[in-house]
Amino acid sequence: MFTSVIIPAAGFGERMGATIGKQFLLLNEKPILVHTLERFEQCAEIHEIIVATQRSSFSIIEEMKKKYSLTKLRSPVEGGERRQDSIANALKLVDPSAEMVSVHDAVRPFVHLKEISQSIETARYFGASIVAVRAKDTIKQASTDGRVEKTLNRSSLWSVQTPQTFQRQILLDAYEFAAKNNITATDDSYLVERIGISPIIVEGSYENIKITTPDDLLLAELLLQRFIP
Ligand code: CTP
Ligand code: MG
Repeated sequence: MFTSVIIPAAGFGERMGATIGKQFLLLNEKPILVHTLERFEQCAEIHEIIVATQRSSFSIIEEMKKKYSLTKLRSPVEGGERRQDSIANALKLVDPSAEMVSVHDAVRPFVHLKEISQSIETARYFGASIVAVRAKDTIKQASTDGRVEKTLNRSSLWSVQTPQTFQRQILLDAYEFAAKNNITATDDSYLVERIGISPIIVEGSYENIKITTPDDLLLAELLLQRFIP
């Protein structure tokens, strides 16, 4: 079953505070984005990879394709203002024969092949799946001035990661609904939930971090030393 993966890589990495987007920072002499792309290149269930990035980075992507022999990588598409705008642009260029579409952050290089496969397999049967891990910390809801309002029940809480995989038509419908109703989300699953579909959780690993702040880079260097895809 033809499956595409969209890799949003158009962010500016404000929380990282580097001079270039964090997806282009090096990890063991290779850009973080390349580590991530290699996971999907290696995954037999993935047929094409579409990266959304800033136009000024298009040539970098083309160079990566050659240098690292990324045969599944298509020409890059332009990113948008929000993560979901970047994904919406990429969705338009997914191969017409694709039945499944995964979305995976450019800055999560420690995804395991098993997580990608299980995500696709689960979405194939249930329509939508998200990789997530059980919350380790107790999570509280607070007002804007920092007053605790509620303690949530940890046993029912999950920290959500990517990949998130969807039957293509479900993702298209969710994005169309979000555009019409001005819905903004930090993950695709929320947009799908808004059209009445409950994604199924695939339990992932704590290694699959989203490299966000400078301390994550230190952690990433350690994780890389023992990572087995
Ligand atoms: N992303 C994107 N288009 C945007 C914003 C984000 O494609 N307009 C991508 C990022 O490049 C990243 C992923 O979405 O791969 C997750 O976003 P995040 O971790 O928030 O990255 P940034 O937006 O770059 O970081 P920050 O929020 O700190 O600026
Ligand atoms: Mg962001």
